[in-house]
Amino acid sequence: MVSPIQPEPFRIRMVEPVRVPNEAEREEALKKAHYNMFGLASKDIYIDLLTDSGTGAMSKYQWAALMCGDEAYAGADSFFALKNAVKEVLGFDYVIPTHQGRAAENVIFGTLVKKGDIVPFNMPFDTTRAHIFNNGATPVDCVIDEAFDPESDYPFKGNVDIRKLERVIRENKDSIPLIMVTVTNNSGGGQPVSLKNLQEVSAMAKKYNIPFFLDAARMAENAYFIKMREKEYSSWSLAEIIKAMMETADGISVSCKKDPLVNIGGMICCRTEEMYHTLLPRVILYEGFATYGGLAGRDLEALAVGLREMTDEQYMAHRIAQVRYLGEMLEEGGVPFVKPAGGHAIFIDAAAFFPHIPQEYFPADVLSIEVYREGAIRGIGLGALAFATKDEKTGELKLPKLELYRLAINRRTYTNSHLEYVARKIIDVYKRRDQVKYGLKVKYAPPVEGIHHFLAHLEPFNL
Ligand code: F0G
Repeated sequence: MVSPIQPEPFRIRMVEPVRVPNEAEREEALKKAHYNMFGLASKDIYIDLLTDSGTGAMSKYQWAALMCGDEAYAGADSFFALKNAVKEVLGFDYVIPTHQGRAAENVIFGTLVKKGDIVPFNMPFDTTRAHIFNNGATPVDCVIDEAFDPESDYPFKGNVDIRKLERVIRENKDSIPLIMVTVTNNSGGGQPVSLKNLQEVSAMAKKYNIPFFLDAARMAENAYFIKMREKEYSSWSLAEIIKAMMETADGISVSCKKDPLVNIGGMICCRTEEMYHTLLPRVILYEGFATYGGLAGRDLEALAVGLREMTDEQYMAHRIAQVRYLGEMLEEGGVPFVKPAGGHAIFIDAAAFFPHIPQEYFPADVLSIEVYREGAIRGIGLGALAFATKDEKTGELKLPKLELYRLAINRRTYTNSHLEYVARKIIDVYKRRDQVKYGLKVKYAPPVEGIHHFLAHLEPFNL
């Protein structure tokens, strides 16, 4: 059953016109893009759900804060505005701005990880994983088994399997520089991690004296799910739950383009001066001085406001309801997707949508193409193209357990009726799914492990 829509808790006073390209234009655009969604031009898209990263609308308070940017190279007022917001909202004493999330990853993994190391995760996102590979180390998924069952409606499918984590730690005792947990778990369907589970991972990390970090890009969505689903915290405010999540960790890596509501920016927060000073040299090498890290002063100001706004419960209630609304409409049309609906996105189960397309021919990316064809809507495949790995010794292709197609909902950007259009178009593709009888071959892929999907050129071939 589709719930009544939850009206938007904002008014729109600046509009960005968009148009629906006609069929011939779409076909031409697909060809030009080498059938890769990353190759499409924004002008050729009506509704762009490629990512929720940096694509949201800033509030009037954030736009006003931009005007207060202090562009001093070192020690700018804007840095202190950010530092105060981080202390107030997250409780950390130290913050290092970076230009975006993967820059924070570069600093953390480039500094702390060495060749041959193991980094236990629930599941890392693609760039996080690529950074670990790039340092000669290996991420190990310790997420619970329910994460791999799209039909399971377990409330915290992002949780770490604590027994598995302990086994991995025991087997690799001297080569684990840190443990990281992604909240919410983007690669596994935007599923949350419970506060209890974070506390257990934290205790385990302490027991073995290993630093514990969160990838906190979607910490506020995660906190909202805790409020809704973890009974002990139902009367806590979102702000209190976010703080309690942060208290479990020694540090966090954040793409601020997600929950902190800015179009560009990232940061690392940590508790100790020692960790802060350990991380700084690589910031200077790759990002900029310690107090701006690749961002303008005005970006730091907008981020300081965004951090506070992400704790607004009306905003978050609407956001989560909007994603769920899309899920419920798809459910009515019979479209298989990861249950329950995620925090930032609906992840369609492309393997179940196109059971006749073998995973090595990239059904999730075929679905991207078909949804674009149908409605000029852009989503993205997160399956074999993004996550398959080659066994170094045998050359054998290891396919990921999930083959998903993601529709990421931009923050404060699309209305509920936009999502009704999206659901209708996807259901139309679902109705004609048996007639989609092609797979994709990779014509070109860059020689860097973990980033194929961003740059690959694809070619359809008949099955
Ligand atoms: N961590 C998570 C959980 C992410 O989802 C992302 C980005 C990053 C780190 C990297 O941050 O893009 O600021 O460099 N995810 C985007 C996405 C790109 O579409 O899900 P970034």
